Amino acid sequence: MKVKEAIFQWYQENGRHDLPWRQTSDAYKIYLSEIMLQQTQVKTVLERFYFPFLERFPTLQSVAEAPLDDVLKMWEGLGYYTRAKNLHHTAITCKGILPRSPEELGGLKGIGKSTAHAICAFAYHEPLPILDANVKRVLCRYFAISVKNEKVLWERAWELLHVKHPYAHNQAMMDIGAILCTPKNPHCNACPLSFTCKGKSAPENYPKPIKKAKVLTKKRFALVCEHEGKLGLIQRQEKLLHGLWGFMQVDEVPEGIFLGKVMHTYSHFKLELEVFKPFLHVKIKNYFTCKEIEKLALSTVDKKILKLLNLKK
Ligand code: ADE
Repeated sequence: MKVKEAIFQWYQENGRHDLPWRQTSDAYKIYLSEIMLQQTQVKTVLERFYFPFLERFPTLQSVAEAPLDDVLKMWEGLGYYTRAKNLHHTAITCKGILPRSPEELGGLKGIGKSTAHAICAFAYHEPLPILDANVKRVLCRYFAISVKNEKVLWERAWELLHVKHPYAHNQAMMDIGAILCTPKNPHCNACPLSFTCKGKSAPENYPKPIKKAKVLTKKRFALVCEHEGKLGLIQRQEKLLHGLWGFMQVDEVPEGIFLGKVMHTYSHFKLELEVFKPFLHVKIKNYFTCKEIEKLALSTVDKKILKLLNLKK
C-alpha cells in the first residue's frame, strides 16, 4: 500500500475523531482551536479553555464586538497572550467574517501560513498541507532530514499530501506526531509511515538535536500596595503580558516587609519574584477590591502572588 493511503487508513481507525474542533466545519471554531493549540497541549485546551471561550464568544463577530479586556479574561491562564490580542485584532479587521482564501487568511495578524492552511483544509477540505512542530518532526524523520529548513519542509509536506483527503491527511499527521512519532521513544511499530520511513533506524537523529541554551533566571521584586483595603495593580505595557493586570514589579530590592517568593517559568526565562509590602508610598493609579480583581485578567505569576497573600484558592 502507498504511504498516503496507509496514513489515511490509519486515521480512519486510530485518529482522535472526537476532538470538538474536528466535529465542526465552522472556520471560526477551527481557527480558535488552532490558535489555542499553537503553544498549548490538547488536554489543557480541551479541559479548560476551548468550551468556556466559545460559550462567551460563540462567533468571531462577538469577539470583534467585545473589549480586549474581556477576550484577555477568557484567555487568562492559557499564556502567550499575544495570541488573544491578535485574535481580537483579526476579528475587528475582518469585521467578524474570516476570508476564505489561504492568502488572505495568512495576511491576518497571528495567522501564519500553516494556520491558514489548517483553517482551509479543515473547514473547506482544500488540498493544502500544514506544517506545525509535530508535523515537522514527522517529515524530518520520514525523509531523514537532519537540519530543519522551512523551504525544504514545505516541499516535502506538499509531496506527502494526499490531495484527495486533505482533511484526514493533515489531522492524521498531527496525531501521528503527537501519539506515535514522539520526540523520545517513538512507536515506529505502530506507525503507518514506517514501511518507507528513511529515518526509522535512528529517529532521534532527525532532526539533529540542538543543545538548548540554559534558561536564565531573572530576579525581580513585586510590590503589594494596600490602600483602604484595596490592592494597587497596574496594567502591563511590556510585550509579554501586555494588557494584563498585576502587581507592580521593580528591579531593586525595596524597603519593606518580605511576604514570600513566587516562581514562574516563561518560554525563554524563569522569573523569581520576591514579594514585599513596601514601607514607602508607591504611586499607583488603580486600586481594586478582591471582588473587582476576580473580574480582571491577571497573569499566572500575579495569581500566584494572590495565593501567597491568601486571597485566592
Ligand atoms: N494541534 C494543532 N492543530 C490540531 C488539531 N487540529 N488537532 C489536534 N492537535 C492539533
